[in-house]
Amino acid sequence: MNTAPAPHVAARVVDAVKVYGGGDTEVRALDGVTVDFPAGRFTAIMGPSGSGKSTLMHCAAGLDTLTSGTAAIGGTELNSLDDRRLTLLRRDRVGFVFQAFNLLPTLTVAENITLPLDLGGVRADAEWIDALVDTVGLRDRLHHRPAELSGGQQQRVAVARAFAGRPDVVFADEPTGNLDSRSGAEVLGLLAHAVRQTHRTVVMVTHDPVAAAHADEVVFLADGRLVDRMREPTADRVLDRMKALDTKALDTKALDGAGERRGQGVLS
Ligand SMILES: Nc1ncnc2c1ncn2[C@@H]1O[C@H](COP(=O)(O)OP(=O)(O)OP(=O)(O)O)[C@@H](O)[C@H]1O
Ligand SMILES: [Mg+2]
Repeated sequence: MNTAPAPHVAARVVDAVKVYGGGDTEVRALDGVTVDFPAGRFTAIMGPSGSGKSTLMHCAAGLDTLTSGTAAIGGTELNSLDDRRLTLLRRDRVGFVFQAFNLLPTLTVAENITLPLDLGGVRADAEWIDALVDTVGLRDRLHHRPAELSGGQQQRVAVARAFAGRPDVVFADEPTGNLDSRSGAEVLGLLAHAVRQTHRTVVMVTHDPVAAAHADEVVFLADGRLVDRMREPTADRVLDRMKALDTKALDTKALDGAGERRGQGVLS
């Protein structure tokens, strides 16, 4: 079966299973997830801690490999690529934003933004970079170093860096996790702007319903499975959905705990 996505899908995983460890310590971080991330849209991935959000993002982005199932970016199946081609695909077609801004302290803002392109020997599109610098509002900071910037400004540099190579899709893992709510809102506004004005695709992992509400759609994970999708999310609706998932997760843990206590009772 050809599971490569149609052009309107920026990234997709099909029957994604990711198992860490083995034997007693085996963890099924992804337990058969099929999900597509539409091109030109902003999708948020939510779910309780440990539900597999980061694992899904890493596997969809080609940073990690699936135990079984397939992942594709644009029309390209990642499984079919050797290491070199995978590295090139990540460099040319994917951007990343992480919770820790991951800027190089010795480089200026301008140098940090074009670093991935410079490392790859790719010429930056000057007009695009120029527009990006204005979009992220860093024109008067271009020659500063990261230590001279606020957290919010540093993350805006990281966002500009992620979009510098005009990637098909930008993956962001808790991009506002280290920011106060105002800086966080600015970064989320930028991501949403990039999607709406420049038709990029953003996939963002977050545990914050307010952050998720900036997305066009939210996909919910629980226990390594896709359990729901929500279009045009609001923070309230996302919060309600998350509460239901958390309650279910707690119920399951409470049952497990009861089992353990019963076990101890028998032994003692
Ligand atoms: N390298 C690893 N080795 C072993 N287990 C791992 C590894 N990475 C993740 N896991 C496990 O896989 C499961 C899913 O982890 P993942 O990081 O994807 O969760 P998450 O939804 O991103 O959680 P959080 O909201 O806390 O970041 C968890 O049970 C985690 O402990
Ligand atoms: Mg995570």
